[in-house]
Amino acid sequence: MTDESASPPPRPDGGTEEQATDAEALTLDPWGSATIADYRKLFDEFGIEQFEDLLESVPNPHYLMRRGVIFGHRDYRPVIEAMANDEPFAALSGFMPTGDPHIGHKLVFDELIWHQERGGDVYALIADLEAHAARGLSWADIDEHARDYVLSLLALGFDPEAGTLYRQSENRAVQDLAFELGIEANFSELESIYGFDGETDVSHMQSVVTQMADICYPQIADEPKPTVIPVGPDQDPHVRLARDVAARTRYFGVTKAYASFEATPAERTLLARAYDARDQYAEESDRPRCVEAATYLEEAASDVEDTLRASVVEKLENAGKEPLRPRVRILDRNATEEAFEALIEAVDGEKRVFAAHVDAFDLDHETAASLARTVEVDHGGYGFYPPASIYHRFMTGLTGGKMSSSVPASHISLLDDPEAGAAKVEAATTGGRETAELQRELGGEADECPVYELYAYLLSGDDDEFAREVYEECVNGERLCGDCKAQAADLMEAFLEEHQERRAEWADRLDALDINLDSTRKR
Ligand code: TRP
Ligand code: SF4
Repeated sequence: MTDESASPPPRPDGGTEEQATDAEALTLDPWGSATIADYRKLFDEFGIEQFEDLLESVPNPHYLMRRGVIFGHRDYRPVIEAMANDEPFAALSGFMPTGDPHIGHKLVFDELIWHQERGGDVYALIADLEAHAARGLSWADIDEHARDYVLSLLALGFDPEAGTLYRQSENRAVQDLAFELGIEANFSELESIYGFDGETDVSHMQSVVTQMADICYPQIADEPKPTVIPVGPDQDPHVRLARDVAARTRYFGVTKAYASFEATPAERTLLARAYDARDQYAEESDRPRCVEAATYLEEAASDVEDTLRASVVEKLENAGKEPLRPRVRILDRNATEEAFEALIEAVDGEKRVFAAHVDAFDLDHETAASLARTVEVDHGGYGFYPPASIYHRFMTGLTGGKMSSSVPASHISLLDDPEAGAAKVEAATTGGRETAELQRELGGEADECPVYELYAYLLSGDDDEFAREVYEECVNGERLCGDCKAQAADLMEAFLEEHQERRAEWADRLDALDINLDSTRKR
């Protein structure tokens, strides 16, 4: 460990070793309950990547990143790279207007604002079609809640001039894109991802493709660019489907190849190995032949699984004297004839053209990918980057258990009267010991404490040192729960007061914004 005061405070909850033992199968249900019993399973079973691994490359990371509240991601690296290199990138998230915005939503509001402050093209949407179809809310209720979400987002610092606010029901481009993307997904797929069945409303299904369109929207509203979707891990099924559907619309695929024949990724690794070892077997070392590589691999690759080795060897033997030569291969997946022609034309340097792919010998992978994207967009395609995501931990409810919108004492609404909010903090469960003596002796359990979570997720703001101090004092037995909660309650009251003042300021200016908060829809 380095200097303690400089490092972020310990993470507040969840994903601990003890919890990891529970054998219950984990499912992610976007319309289900909002607890994720074991964050580690998300990495192992769902392939979500650890945020920690790329924290270092994030320029000036947000405190939610530093404190491990943002714990996972899919493919966020291209977004960070764009951010670091001053290239275009986008962020988008959506809110179902089913109740009051609360301190859990604030995490996402803050994440969007952070990306906006770093130069991103940022979108926040009201998922009113989803709320209506999947949750059965009336349009009048939706309007009221939509206004509250928008006001809190603005009060926290979202810049509506630089960014975009929209509601699904009013965004024709999103609905058109949803229709097009719906062509790339079928019922069996929705059935296996979401558990839909014969009883599922058609409009509920439509709200899924609408979300796919939301997720891709920043790339059609402007140009294709790396885009991140900050959400809770319950939304991961949507993110995965969106990544698949976006990929299916692409005209071209870009891969690496070593000879004219096709190879799987595993086979390619073996081919790369043979190419790298060419000095050891090739008669002319700058021109290794496929047959020579076959003979080499047969002996040298004894560590590799038999069927894999055999299939590579066979392909190499069939290719005979053809030289083994690395190249970038651009495959025609969905392109029109004109687009494929244009792509061939656009490839610089040595190339070989086949029926459904072109091999480029002088392009690197990145150049080829960007060329393919440009040609696709010029010929009417979307050229989507696969949307990325970042995931935050859910907050524990103040009464222990999960934070639930239907249990007011379990969460703090951004609309709670400041004194009532403070009282909820005072009444919260803690990680404290039975008596003050025990607390002094053993220290409190900050890791299990919803009040410490409030400090870490919200009340400490950007001040890591303060959060760490609370933690250390707690676990060392220097902090007693009564005082600790009183301090947290004061901070919460001050936060709510200020937040609501800002909301009130924005309330008068809402009419001037581009978003319509009075729907003409009925029921
Ligand atoms: N389904 C999300 C929710 O339940 C809301 C949503 C709609 C959304 N479209 C989105 C979230 C796009 C992220 C990105 O809260
Ligand atoms: Fe929680 Fe504070 Fe008590 Fe520690 S002292 S257990 S952080 S309330």
